[in-house]
Amino acid sequence: MKHLYDIKQFEQQQLNDLFVLADQIDELTVAETKTWHHGKTAMALFFENSTRTLMSFQLAAQRLGLDFNALNITHSSTNKGETLKDTLLTLDAMDVDAFIIRHHENNIAKKITQWLTNDSCIINAGDGTNQHPTQGLLDLYTIRCHKENFTNIKVSIIGDIKHSRVAASLIDGLYILGNRDTWIYAPNNLLPKSTTAHIATSMDDVLCNADVVVMLRIQKERMNQLPAVTLNNWHQQYGLNRDLLKRAKKDAIVMHPGPINRGIEIDSVIADGNQSVILEQVNNGVLLRQALLHYLLQSK
Ligand code: CP
Repeated sequence: MKHLYDIKQFEQQQLNDLFVLADQIDELTVAETKTWHHGKTAMALFFENSTRTLMSFQLAAQRLGLDFNALNITHSSTNKGETLKDTLLTLDAMDVDAFIIRHHENNIAKKITQWLTNDSCIINAGDGTNQHPTQGLLDLYTIRCHKENFTNIKVSIIGDIKHSRVAASLIDGLYILGNRDTWIYAPNNLLPKSTTAHIATSMDDVLCNADVVVMLRIQKERMNQLPAVTLNNWHQQYGLNRDLLKRAKKDAIVMHPGPINRGIEIDSVIADGNQSVILEQVNNGVLLRQALLHYLLQSK
């Protein structure tokens, strides 16, 4: 694999191999991994806001010895009318080994792979409502840290599924790993057009005996108008509180890709509680991005 634009590019064995590589990296010191890709360069182009993905890619690249640069989009020549294609071709002429791109347009990462003439790889850090494959990888890895396998667990995903590239990548990844017990719950107008997941009819239904609960925020930035369920009653109908979490299994883990909206999709007592693995997801994000960069760059 040269580029990663969609988690569906992976086969089951490749995902398992990547997770084993992450396990191995976790056992090593930064001094050891820093020699792996010394002299190579990664560049981030983020046309949308980010805290976790951008910073964890930076740390992951640096811990593998890469030089890491992030283009400041607001100060770049895109504001003088330069097209995205010309921007990419310009930066590609500087001998960059890996471009990490976040953009509002669906499928743009795949499109960019056809523009570049040099040997650089493209990594999708989130494209519109389409895919966020590295978030999917770190979410799957986090589940693997807590559950014995992917096939005998119920995974429940609640919130704005329609606009969530995180949910899309996670649902696809779970399917590749053999899970057939993935459930989603959202207002009808925030459900995806097609999905391999089961559609639940209530919070009770989606949470009943769940092993993994994934909460999502409303992606207001991707909506022309807010859904009929407003922020005020979102918490009542789609928010996770202590009583509702009791419907899930006692050892269920609670996940959220972040950023979280406390008191809307999740209560603080849950986000900060002992079933929450939200910060563990962040920690695994650096590790999985290290594994992915190594996986894609090792043949270069
Ligand atoms: N989960 C995620 O993509 O977070 P950021 O937007 O902060 O990168």
